[in-house]
Amino acid sequence: MNRSALAIVILAAGQGTRMKSALAKVLHPIAGRPMLAHVLAIAKDLGAEHIVVVTAPGAHDVAGLAAEWGAEAVVQERQLGTGHAVLTAEEKLKGFDGNLLVLFGDAPLLTAATLRRLIERLGENADLTTLGFRAADPTGYGRMVAEDDQLVRIVEHKDASENERRIDLCFAGMLAGPVGTIFELLHRVDNRNAQGEFYMTDAIAIARSRGLHCAVVEGSESEMLGVNSRLQLAQAEAAFQSRFRTKLMSDGVSFLAPETVFLSADTTIEADVTIGPYVVFGPGVTVKSGAEIRAFCHIDGATVGNGAILGPFARLRPGAVLEESVHIGNFCEIKNARIEKGAKVNHLSYVGDARVGAATNIGAGTITCNYDGENKHFTDIGAGVFIGSDATLVAPLKIGDGAYVGAGSVITDDVEKGALALGRGRQVSKPGRANEIRSRNRARKDRKT
Ligand code: UD1
Ligand code: MG
Repeated sequence: MNRSALAIVILAAGQGTRMKSALAKVLHPIAGRPMLAHVLAIAKDLGAEHIVVVTAPGAHDVAGLAAEWGAEAVVQERQLGTGHAVLTAEEKLKGFDGNLLVLFGDAPLLTAATLRRLIERLGENADLTTLGFRAADPTGYGRMVAEDDQLVRIVEHKDASENERRIDLCFAGMLAGPVGTIFELLHRVDNRNAQGEFYMTDAIAIARSRGLHCAVVEGSESEMLGVNSRLQLAQAEAAFQSRFRTKLMSDGVSFLAPETVFLSADTTIEADVTIGPYVVFGPGVTVKSGAEIRAFCHIDGATVGNGAILGPFARLRPGAVLEESVHIGNFCEIKNARIEKGAKVNHLSYVGDARVGAATNIGAGTITCNYDGENKHFTDIGAGVFIGSDATLVAPLKIGDGAYVGAGSVITDDVEKGALALGRGRQVSKPGRANEIRSRNRARKDRKT
């Protein structure tokens, strides 16, 4: 047997009825990423040679997600229990001769570090290892009956005696051991129990009767949360967010009000970034060192460069790239646009499908008109350009380096390098007319009353 080879089976065929959802339970997101993807990420992290996801019949989206992560899917035709579910993966693992680790698709808070302990322990004095935790409220969990440092059996809550129910050491659902041993034991498991199911947990007593050594590795309860309901989904979300923020803080990121910031599982924030209150990070965001994200920003699929300042109240949509020292101010929206070094878009503007050259200043209320109702068009603004307030830039459009666009202009034609472009009506002033108009309007009002 090859002790360093690892296969992982992820059980994800359960009904998830308590979610009351048309979406498969394991596809509900935590930090914007399906629960199952969190588990798949851990499986990858552990360097598994094979990853097999056990799905329910018709769960094509679940199988699709597995494929995206390079995992195989196998259908468990009927949900006859966790032991039966693991056995459905046997066919896929034919010829594999290493260790097997069983994970649940609805336990997204587990960490690779904890699971590594489970696998490492196998190399020491244990034939099988199981993950356990001390539950504040053990109701519903399988209880781990141990003698000395040996696990004797796991008894499901519904099958447990009064005495056994007092045990607070609970099974988290993760089991590891040589693949051949696990399958052989599971083939011996029957379904004579309170739920009429083939319990994976019964493998322990059988192993013990054969003189095998089963060890318990303990983890913290916060990692073990299994999601079965919307409430637990929200609890898992809160726990994930809190843990992620704590990690970022320990990596050198400042949060003025950490509990108000929402992160996505793939959010990347470098050291010396400061994040104000109420900031939302959608998927695909990178924030580079020294940047400051002020209150109430919403960022999605974007990169914020070194020393850039964003917000308050700014929105970055997919494809927004802010280079070093860029300033994006309040009520600005940037989409699919590169804002080059030192450029400023500070007030109430929309910049979409564009490039804004280095050190260019975009005046308040500027809009790139990128959409004609059918197609998107590009606006290319050079370096050192000054766009006056309330300019309407009708794409496709090219504005050369150093150009100057007058406030209130509607610009439909390209502007040459260094040129001044004005696209607005000329101002007319009529001396004394204000008072004439005022008297006329007052007279009208008096006639009415
Ligand atoms: C299981 C454990 C219990 C443990 C608890 C931890 C067993 C018998 N019990 O109980 O000891 O304390 O998890 O949360 O293992 N699944 C399938 N096919 C099936 C049945 C289940 O794929 O036929 C999957 C589910 O989708 C889920 C996982 O297996 O991901 C666990 O199933 P679940 O029904 O939630 O088991 P519990 O009753 O919670
Ligand atoms: Mg469960």
